[in-house]
Amino acid sequence: MKKVGLVGWRGMVGSVLMQRMREENDFDFIDPVFFSTSQAGQAGPDVGKPVAELQDANNIDALKAMDIIITCQGGDYTKAVYSTLRAAGWNGYWIDAASSLRMEDDAVIVLDPVNSNVIDDALESGINTYVGGNCTVSLMLMALGGLFEKDLIEWVSPMTYQAASGGGARHMRELINQMGTIHSSVAELLDDPASAILEIDKIVAETIRSDAMPTENFGVALGGSLIPWIDSQLDNGQSREEWKAEAETNKILGLSEAPIPVDGLCVRVGAMRCHSQAMTIKLKKDLPVSEIESILAGSNDWVKVIPNDKDQTVNELTPTNVTGTLSIPVGRIRKLNMGPEYISAFTVGDQLLWGAAEPLRRMLRILLA
Ligand code: HSE
Repeated sequence: MKKVGLVGWRGMVGSVLMQRMREENDFDFIDPVFFSTSQAGQAGPDVGKPVAELQDANNIDALKAMDIIITCQGGDYTKAVYSTLRAAGWNGYWIDAASSLRMEDDAVIVLDPVNSNVIDDALESGINTYVGGNCTVSLMLMALGGLFEKDLIEWVSPMTYQAASGGGARHMRELINQMGTIHSSVAELLDDPASAILEIDKIVAETIRSDAMPTENFGVALGGSLIPWIDSQLDNGQSREEWKAEAETNKILGLSEAPIPVDGLCVRVGAMRCHSQAMTIKLKKDLPVSEIESILAGSNDWVKVIPNDKDQTVNELTPTNVTGTLSIPVGRIRKLNMGPEYISAFTVGDQLLWGAAEPLRRMLRILLA
């Protein structure tokens, strides 16, 4: 059995990865070795079979003994360890959730339901670094994969509604605390059916703007508001999150030589762990909506077309419905007034599952096959 080192398995993405690996019995097929940056020597986690004590995640010799390493430890860890490990002659497979290596020429972004051909070619040519994509990009491609595969997209503009989890575990806590702060500020008035809504609204607005709002992680209020900027500011006016859309989409699809334009605005909203995206798509030709729907639905086992019907949309095409599942619903598909080649679509996906952990464990299974 292959020796597989796991690093960063206790963090939020790592915990989701561990959960999925247990559910899919991945540990039956590997000899897992758990690493830690701070607790080497302590007992490893329960994965249904005996595991050795935790190894030091900064010990290059211990890492070198692995056939495969999966890390969810974050970009700083990758930067600190990866080059040294390679320079020490390690040729094993490195599977990474962090973005640091994504755009390297000798790394492939993995999303096998969409780019198994790119992954197969890379394996054949000896590439041994495989990186999970940005969550919004992976979720968009899981939803629109059929149209990309058939080369039907001239350009796409995804406008995102991204959940708190994209910032990290502390951001999720802060969102709930913000919501609680808002509620507490008007709880008594809410209980009184005779109270005036504009008085409640005034107090809520004052609370959101006040120091009472916990904003240590987001910097500003998200609960009761939104944040139309995600990640750092680039010189061209894009946010880094927006820049990733085109760069990563085309790298995933193996189209970097003649990229498809992908650009839109990324917005943080008060959802917990599901990213949503409203997309304007310019198709290369006029296709009936029914044909578009069947192309989308046939692309992979997880995408689910939701008919453009109010009841089904509000019940099925929401973070509430999707959270904690691998389902990728896509709906609101209709022709736009701009012309017959212009369509809208809306998709929702769990950013910790298909957006982070799932492509990594599937890459592991590809390596074990
Ligand atoms: N950058 C994403 C976000 C999460 O902030 O929502 C990771 O892909």
